[in-house]
Amino acid sequence: MIDVSTEELIALDHAHVIHPLHNPSGHAASGPIVLVSGQGAVVRDIHGREYIDALSQLWNVNVGHGRRELAEVAAQQMSTLAFASNYSGQANIPAIRLARKLIEIGYPNMQAVFFTSGGAESNESAFKLARSYWKLRGFPGKYKIISRRWAYHGVTIAAMSATGMSTYWPQFEPRAPGFLQVAPPYCYRCELGRSPGNCPIDTAEDLEQTIIREGPETVAAFIAEPVMGAGGVIPPPPGYFARVREVCDRHQVLFIADEVITGFGRTGKMFALEHWGVQPDVVSFAKGVTSAYIPLGGIMISKPIAEALRSLPPDQAWMHAYTYSGHAVACAVGLKNIEIIEREGLVQRAAEMGKRLLEGLKTLESLPAVGEVRGLGLMCAVELVADKATRASYPPEQKIGPKVLAAGRERGVLYRNRGDVLEMAPPLVVTTDQIDRIVNVLGESIRQVTG
Ligand SMILES: Cc1ncc(COP(=O)(O)O)c(C=O)c1O
Repeated sequence: MIDVSTEELIALDHAHVIHPLHNPSGHAASGPIVLVSGQGAVVRDIHGREYIDALSQLWNVNVGHGRRELAEVAAQQMSTLAFASNYSGQANIPAIRLARKLIEIGYPNMQAVFFTSGGAESNESAFKLARSYWKLRGFPGKYKIISRRWAYHGVTIAAMSATGMSTYWPQFEPRAPGFLQVAPPYCYRCELGRSPGNCPIDTAEDLEQTIIREGPETVAAFIAEPVMGAGGVIPPPPGYFARVREVCDRHQVLFIADEVITGFGRTGKMFALEHWGVQPDVVSFAKGVTSAYIPLGGIMISKPIAEALRSLPPDQAWMHAYTYSGHAVACAVGLKNIEIIEREGLVQRAAEMGKRLLEGLKTLESLPAVGEVRGLGLMCAVELVADKATRASYPPEQKIGPKVLAAGRERGVLYRNRGDVLEMAPPLVVTTDQIDRIVNVLGESIRQVTG
């Protein structure tokens, strides 16, 4: 299968591949792990070494690796009709069927779907949709997009401007105008100085105060991940999203749920706001819609928004488009992927396995370096601290998080880190043994690094 040596491949990678978040030092001295195959929650590298894929690669291989069914449906669609433009005037069967299916499994107020090829494109589409919706409704001044610090919404210019992790900005500034951030519900490090007993939802008040300060007549939308992902797996306190919904309704601000990670079962519900009985106006999705077997994303939009778009006069179009919107092969894979999630009860499985993962990780709280363990469903994190009492972080130059990551990799488990926060989101098919190994290896790795 591979006709050059591993050393040659790694040299070619060094010479020719610019990686996302590129820095050659991001690779181990021996080079990157070159993955060649996978099955379930396990991936195998070019040397035959196996790893538990504790982050489903990028939080996205929900149904696990090695699903022949998905390959077959893609091959069948490719040999029938590989591509058909989905621009106005044309349509294709997988895109129609997938849109219908998404509306069936999505929030009850959802009505229509616009397809993209990934998460950032979905959020771009959501922002543009929000602006165009308010113009159609006669409020052209509503253009600002509010997000939260520590949010990750992708890194195209607009998505980056909504992303609230400031390390993504400096090389590319200025950010797009009209984007601003409010406090996240990051209770362990509450920006508002509250403790869980005397809050729990003040950060939604920060949203309201910001809308009032900016002027509700200027604000188009608020975007939030139901459980913040890349920022450190931060689930909200229980009443938070109900408050967000109220605030958005009071000020006529659209609520965009970025369910790029949390959608398709990840948190133990098909979509994560179901945990709190809240419905957004727009849902951004990607990743788990195809379990990453092929790129696909999109936005689901509520009935009033869909009706506003349909009310456009015949001589006007919604001037937003991607060549690959509604790609027939990607949509066929998406349909089959959702069929697998439903057939195998993977949403319920994520809830059960997630409970086991969180309970296992909680046992690590006895370690001096473990400040907080948190999570929802199969999305969990362990935050390491230099001092448990004061919650003081380790000096960044000690690189505690990256060292734990490397120690885990040595032991055959792939995690991810944001600084000293170790993040996990294994495939929904992960077994109990694998969950226990993810926990045990993390404990061993933390002990090794922090002494
Ligand atoms: C919540 C969220 N939104 C958006 C994105 C961006 O998706 P993409 O990398 O496909 O553009 C990501 C990627 O990790 C994400 O986690």
